[in-house]
Amino acid sequence: MTRTRTRVGPLSTGKAPALDVDALIDDPGTGIIVCCGSGGVGKTTTSAALALRAAERGRKVVVLTIDPARRLAQSMGIEELDNTPRPVPGVGGESGGSLDAMMLDMKRTFDEVVESQASPEKAKQILENPFYIALSSSFAGTQEYMAMEKLGQIHADARRDGTYDLIVVDTPPSRSALDFLDAPERLSSFLDGRFIRLMLAPARGPAKLMTAGFGVITNALTKLLGAQVLRDLQTFVAALDTVFGGFRQRAQKTYALLQADGTAFLVVAAPEPDALREAAYFVERLSEDRMPLAGLIVNRATPAPVGDLTADEAMAAAARLRKREPGAVAAGLLRLHADRSRLVERELRLRDGFAAAHPQVATAVVPALAGDVHDLDGLRRVGELLAGKAED
Ligand SMILES: Nc1ncnc2c1ncn2[C@@H]1O[C@H](COP(=O)(O)OP(=O)(O)OP(=O)(O)O)[C@@H](O)[C@H]1O
Ligand SMILES: [Mg+2]
Repeated sequence: MTRTRTRVGPLSTGKAPALDVDALIDDPGTGIIVCCGSGGVGKTTTSAALALRAAERGRKVVVLTIDPARRLAQSMGIEELDNTPRPVPGVGGESGGSLDAMMLDMKRTFDEVVESQASPEKAKQILENPFYIALSSSFAGTQEYMAMEKLGQIHADARRDGTYDLIVVDTPPSRSALDFLDAPERLSSFLDGRFIRLMLAPARGPAKLMTAGFGVITNALTKLLGAQVLRDLQTFVAALDTVFGGFRQRAQKTYALLQADGTAFLVVAAPEPDALREAAYFVERLSEDRMPLAGLIVNRATPAPVGDLTADEAMAAAARLRKREPGAVAAGLLRLHADRSRLVERELRLRDGFAAAHPQVATAVVPALAGDVHDLDGLRRVGELLAGKAED
């Protein structure tokens, strides 16, 4: 692969401490790394790159990815959804480390929980229920919930069998980074929902009056939805009774795992106001929830243009040139240089703003590469940049 020389503006603005990525992944005390951030900022890429780098530095790593781009999944050998980590070929070698990867299958994970919590007969009843099918494949928050569930499973297995000493977790493509922490609770309360339960099981209501009232609602629903649909919904809620206690308990356990010392959260953000604002909310929330933050990764930063010319100097030179020679190519290039310099300055100001509000958050900056990151070489490159060890 040919490497283009990539330059970044000053890696440290002097306001935020630098994030030492290698120290983090080399530390045997780091057992779980969670990459969070708003949609499209590079969570999946960062997770995969960190996992690969850690494996090549000797750790036994598993990376749990969510919806990786097809080509990236192919290059890691995980385009098949079987919900089990598989070894990534060609990683580790002399270092003694290894990398397994998997892509989360949300529905399969949900099914497995049901199967493990209910009797085979009851499990079958739930799995075939149309409401369950809808909930397990599309309810907002299911993906976040299942990512946590899968993390809990892999962690328990790894502990028992000694298979992995580092789990890197990618998080779902939510609009907000906070969804990863909030959605499981939302889903739990939905399943737990008093409203649904009372409405669907009126016979349990202690007061006669209540029962009569809910009977009216049930009748109305029957008219609206049809008897079969309502029966399905009732069966579903009743059947979930068996399993959702387990769900909640497990989600709480995983939450505790996220608060443990061996866990490190990395917040990924683009050098843009919205993404950085989102990252700031997330940082504050982690501290409220007593979850350990390792640092901020500003991804896809604009590479600084070559040369020392400032934006103003470039614009002035372009103007002079155009006067002498209208339509000169060099004038266009100078303007591009000026635009790029201004972008770099703007990003620097945004990062400074973040650092001023959160001076304790260690930060790493990864420049935008020329193309997408879709193979192991690309991931290695991102890993080097993350660690600040990229050779020119
Ligand atoms: N530093 C980078 N340079 C160039 N391209 C990058 C870089 N980081 C990520 N990308 C590309 O940006 C796209 C989005 O990255 P990625 O899928 O990792 O984001 P994400 O946060 O996981 O998105 P989603 O929220 O949809 O899950 C991908 O095509 C990836 O190859
Ligand atoms: Mg992703």
